[in-house]
Amino acid sequence: MQTTEKTALPLADLERIIREAAKLMLEADSARMHVEEKSGTANFVTEYDVRVQRTLQAAFSELLPGCGYLAEEEGESENAIGAGYTFIIDPIDGTTNFMLGRRASCISVALLEDSKTVYGAIYDPYADRFYMATAGGGAFCNGQPIHVSDREPLKGVAAIGTAPYYKETLSRPVTEIIYAMLQNFGDIRRVGSAALDLCDVACGVSVAYCEPILSPWDFAAGRLLVEEAGGIVTDMHGAPLPQDKPAGVLAASPKAYETLKKTVDAAMAACK
Ligand code: IPD
Ligand code: CA
Ligand code: CA
Repeated sequence: MQTTEKTALPLADLERIIREAAKLMLEADSARMHVEEKSGTANFVTEYDVRVQRTLQAAFSELLPGCGYLAEEEGESENAIGAGYTFIIDPIDGTTNFMLGRRASCISVALLEDSKTVYGAIYDPYADRFYMATAGGGAFCNGQPIHVSDREPLKGVAAIGTAPYYKETLSRPVTEIIYAMLQNFGDIRRVGSAALDLCDVACGVSVAYCEPILSPWDFAAGRLLVEEAGGIVTDMHGAPLPQDKPAGVLAASPKAYETLKKTVDAAMAACK
């Protein structure tokens, strides 16, 4: 693995642990897995979300004893971010894709040291792409440096996340954003994994991405990846993202960010 700056982080161990946990995803049979519904609409959790999270946490706690967690499943989201190491984990981002056998899901892991994000990794086991960034050390995919796009917005694609668990309040804004995006960008995409959407911006295959509400585990690692790849990530109002609270997310290349922000502002105004 490459970084442009020396780091004391056990990068090889972190990558090994994440790749190992992802083998569980590859073994899964979507026709047979146990699935339960969570709060919100169409919000599912499979036995694999829980197994991947447990596997990661057991290995991370051995690697960095005493570390804390902010993780999606099993109530770990109550844990606070504080001194020392804290992992923010989405064990499977893109659970709906996963349970349908759509092969567009990933593991997302951010590591904070004294409340500062020092490491982010997103692993797509289907494409065998390991995206990782360290603070100040650049962003990489399978060891190769990645950068955001230099395309004009109308010559690139923008991705939209539909905030599917908040249909009652956000269906209308999402629809307005899609309409406005289609005017201002070459085309739109809906991947079904926020973390992979952020990787797409980081490696330049999307020029922009927006989702009106996400949880910290959806965006913690991807935010560092996009920023280290030269991009801009903010909340829907242009402010920095929180670390431990849900927020809407705008992510784009410097060339596309203003267009994305104006697009979203216009869509929000149209909802009033
Ligand atoms: C979801 C995915 C999806 C996004 C949702 C997320 P999950 O995460 O990232 O693309 O639209 O807002 O909650 O539930 O599959 O981990
Ligand atoms: Ca997620
Ligand atoms: Ca998840």
